Amino acid sequence: MPVDAPGLDDGVTAVAHPNIALVKYWGKRDERLILPVTDSLSLTLDAFPTTTTVRPDPALSTDEVTLNGIAAEGEAHRRVTTFLDLVRARAGSTERAAVTTLNSVPTGAGLASSASGFAALAVASAAAYGLRLDATALSRLTRRGSGSASRSIFGGFAVWYAGPEDDAGDDRARDLASYAEPVSAELDPALVIALLDTGPKAVSSRAAMKRTVGTSPLYRPWAESSRADLAQMREALLRGDLEAVGEIAERNALGMHATMLAARPAVRYLSPASLTVLDAVLELRRAGIPAYATIDAGPNVKVLCRRGDADRVAGAVRAAAACRVVVTGRGPGARLHSGVR
Ligand code: DP6
Repeated sequence: MPVDAPGLDDGVTAVAHPNIALVKYWGKRDERLILPVTDSLSLTLDAFPTTTTVRPDPALSTDEVTLNGIAAEGEAHRRVTTFLDLVRARAGSTERAAVTTLNSVPTGAGLASSASGFAALAVASAAAYGLRLDATALSRLTRRGSGSASRSIFGGFAVWYAGPEDDAGDDRARDLASYAEPVSAELDPALVIALLDTGPKAVSSRAAMKRTVGTSPLYRPWAESSRADLAQMREALLRGDLEAVGEIAERNALGMHATMLAARPAVRYLSPASLTVLDAVLELRRAGIPAYATIDAGPNVKVLCRRGDADRVAGAVRAAAACRVVVTGRGPGARLHSGVR
């Protein structure tokens, strides 16, 4: 997806959707370059888009960042500025920018808001500063904002390669080796999202994964098993085998949460309501409905199932947890907004 810089006075707008990993990214081997320990694989959703406008302005002395109408401060502002510095360095610009973001997904609740957020920011800022990047290069750039966001550059299923773990030295070569790309799949499933708690989490995923890698005795075994999960996941997707895809996704996610529970001190994102939904998913399977759970850095549970079963699955989850439920499916990759003149 090469992008052109329209060079508009009112900025450049991009839209991106969150993705949910079926084989998780949990743990970095390089914090600065955001190089992960393992490959991961996700489904980009057709719900909860983020729309971001970037307008470079020579009159600004600092980046002005607005998130859902509120000026961003502290860490949120710092992450955007750090990312824009990277874009500016590549574009040979020192111009600060006004950044306006509308996030329809709750921020910081384990609903992949940083994925859609940084994918939209990357596409909009690359175009606004005149960088001409193909989709692979865009995914690498997006990775530097938030690892999981590299996968939201693509629609449908996408894999994010970690690059060789034993790499040393040359930052450029290490950077080049870690990017996302689309994955072939004979599957068009539904992902039913149980919105159990949409408030921001107590521990950010960035801090939690760092603590897990540094202290959890279960981390290495999980990372090792995740490599096998990824290979089997790709085969299952090619076969269109929903049961296998679901089983692998569920065990990979629960394993990731096990690594966190064993961290010191423990990181626990699962709530009683999360367990209630996990029970409801087991009940559905006992009743012959293939439904499988995955959970990210928050209590909210996402249930993978056939599109034809989505209403039944949504009803069972709603009845069990008395929560809002959203039925989603495969969505598009990040792109410049069609409304941009
Ligand atoms: C649990 O991509 O938010 O959602 O790279 O530090 O910004 P940073 O982390 P982030 O972590 C996402 C973790 C996850 C699993 C996944 O999306 O693969």
